[in-house]
Formats: sequence, C-alpha cells, structure tokens
Amino acid sequence: MDLRQGAVEDLEIMNNSWKDKRVFLTGHTGFKGAWLSIWLDALGAKVTGYALKPPTEPSLFKICRLDRRMKSVIGDVRDGVKLKKALLAAKPEIVIHMAAQPLVRESYRNPAETYETNVMGVVNLFEAIRASSTVKAVVNVTTDKCYENKEHARAFHEEEPMGGYDPYSSSKACSELVTATYRKSFFNPKDFAKHGVAVASARAGNVIGGGDWAADRLIPDIIRAALRGEKVRIRSPRAIRPWQHVLEPLSGYLLLAEKLYTQGPKYAEAWNFGPDAGDAKDVEWIVKRMFGHWPEAPGYALDKGRHPHEAHYLKLDSAKARRQLGWAPRWHIGQAIDKIIDWTRAYAAGRDMLAVCRAQITEYSLK
Ligand SMILES: NC(=O)c1ccc[n+]([C@@H]2O[C@H](COP(=O)([O-])OP(=O)(O)OC[C@H]3O[C@@H](n4cnc5c(N)ncnc54)[C@H](O)[C@@H]3O)[C@@H](O)[C@H]2O)c1
Repeated sequence: MDLRQGAVEDLEIMNNSWKDKRVFLTGHTGFKGAWLSIWLDALGAKVTGYALKPPTEPSLFKICRLDRRMKSVIGDVRDGVKLKKALLAAKPEIVIHMAAQPLVRESYRNPAETYETNVMGVVNLFEAIRASSTVKAVVNVTTDKCYENKEHARAFHEEEPMGGYDPYSSSKACSELVTATYRKSFFNPKDFAKHGVAVASARAGNVIGGGDWAADRLIPDIIRAALRGEKVRIRSPRAIRPWQHVLEPLSGYLLLAEKLYTQGPKYAEAWNFGPDAGDAKDVEWIVKRMFGHWPEAPGYALDKGRHPHEAHYLKLDSAKARRQLGWAPRWHIGQAIDKIIDWTRAYAAGRDMLAVCRAQITEYSLK
C-alpha cells in the first residue's frame, strides 16, 4: 500500500479544511515543527517553514527529508528583515510560531540569546504579519512554564499571571505578553472587520514522542543511554510534569488555527492544551515505565549533583479547550510511551520514518 496516499485519504475524511491552505510555520526543523510539517503535508497544506538548521543530529527533519515536502527557508527569527521577506513571499493565510530556544538549562547558560530569540523573535514575526495582507490566523506556541509558578497543587488556567523563574520560562511569559499587546494594539478583536487577523497563543505541557534528540530532556536522555547500554542519570525523580505525546498539542494547535481562520475573533485569546490530570506523573514513574518495555536496558541512577532551579510541580487546566474547541487528549501517558518505543524500535530497524510518522498521525487522527 502507498502509505502516503493512505494517510492523506484517512486524514481528509477527518478534516478537509487544510487542503491547499498556505501556512507559514517557524521552527519546522525542530522536534515539534517537523511532526507538524508532516501532519500539515498529509492534510494537503502548502507549508513554508522558517527556522535555523535542525538543532540536533540526527533530526526528524533530516531523517524524513522534509525539505523535499515543503518550502524550507533557513533563517534566524532575530533577523527581522529576512523573516519579513520570507513571510511576505509565502503569502500565508495561517502562521504558526514555534521557533524558539526551548530548553531551561540552556537558558541558564545563554540567557541573552534565549531572550533575543524568544522575545524579539516574536516581535519580528508580528512586525512581518503587520506588513502582510494575506494572514488571517496566528498561533504563537509558548509553554506551560509561562505561568508564575508558586508550586501550588492545582492546575493553571489561562487567566493566571505570567511569570517564570528561569530565563526560558520568563522569555516565554514575555512572548505571551508581546502576543497580548499586538492583539490589543494592532489586531484587536473589536476591530476584526478592519484588519481581519485573529491572534491566539497556545500553552502545552512536556511534550514527548519519537524523533526528539534534544539535550537535557528526559525521554531523549533515556533512549540515548539505553541504546548505548548505559545507565540513565535522573536529576529530579519527584518532579511532576504534564507529559503528553507530541500529537496531542499539535492537534490542539491545528484545531485552534482552524477556528481562528473560520471564525476569527471569537477564539483570539490564550489556550491551554495539557494532558488529563492523571497523566501528570513524576520523572521516576516515566523512567520505570520506559524501562518496563526495555528489559535489556541497564536502568537508572540518581544524579545527586547540584542543578539549577527547575519547577517542581506543573499542571495545566485545559477545561476551556475541551469546552470551547471540543479538544481532548486522546493518547494517555501509557499509550504515549508505547508509541515512543514503537517509533524508536522502527528507527533502530532502519524503517522509512516518514511512513512511520504518518502511520502514527493517521492512527491518532482516526481514534
Ligand atoms: N518540547 C516540549 O516539551 C515543549 C513544551 C512546551 C512548549 N514547547 C515549545 O514548542 C516549540 C518547539 O519546541 P521543540 O521541542 O520542537 O524545540 P526544538 O529545539 O526541537 O526546535 C526549535 C526550533 O526553533 C528553531 N530555532 C531556534 N532558534 C532559532 C532562531 N534564532 N531563529 C530561527 N529558528 C530558531 C530551531 O531551528 C528549531 O526549528 C518551542 O516554542 C518550545 O518553546 C516545547
């Protein structure tokens, strides 16, 4: 069977609204961006990506040869002139912004660069959007870490204050503030008839999935160590995170962008796309669950060294997305881990990973 054809037909049954839509996606060479590029391609969208070269080696972008399936512009979001030129040339109807320096520990090493990319990058993007006459819908992808985290046990809802202890979290809170300001000042929902642009932001949890090779992230650390036959070193075994498979927030971004595109200002606000409360597990639970599938792996050891501060407790309240967008998580944490193991085994066996990703997207879409 032609897997690509099969995937497209299946997804079209689910949703035909992306066919031939022009989409400008920043961060397409990264983990989430590559998955979203594969999904958008399968839905028939015309995607232009704008990002630096893939941040890891290997990368999902390269192993799936995504440069052949989309227009890929390698550029820096800090370069406002180049970004504007690329966006205007693409004439997008929908913009999804994912380019970022996304790592907490890297943000302690390079705070200024993190702010330049994550804050001025979004300012430059909005300046390009202001110059465009084609854009109708904008989704800025931030994070659950944008909230002021007082380590309380309840989940964050969208109206809570922005904050952030470390430079990454605070830079994403700034990105949210920039988004809110551009929405109020230039794309105000009250004046939608004049400007025609609907702007939203999306906050997701700790995203996991096949094809992530980032440094200092739990799942890639486990896979790297297991494949090398080494023990994985665990920093914060009791830290609780809202884990979710990468297709979960991506389905939320797609749904949100679609609503912004078709119904405009009604959806022009901030949205959480987190997992169900039962999927917020501690790090040690995840490690044990991963190794349950991997009896040959050598296990883990606690890393008792001193580490920079990272939030201990983070949960997202996604009731609004459920109620108003009809979005709900589909793959719970156990299934998400099963999919990662399947993906990793397929990769280790040298399979066609574009087909594997498409098959997982189809399975997710049709559930
Ligand atoms: N992975 C997660 O758990 C998670 C959770 C919540 C939010 N997010 C957000 O989702 C988005 C994607 O994250 P990811 O996990 O795919 O990260 P990633 O590191 O895999 O990808 C980041 C992307 O941004 C690009 N990029 C980085 N700096 C750039 C610059 N100066 N100019 C242009 N492009 C640049 C990279 O080239 C890459 O394409 C980020 O905005 C991140 O903050 C990620």
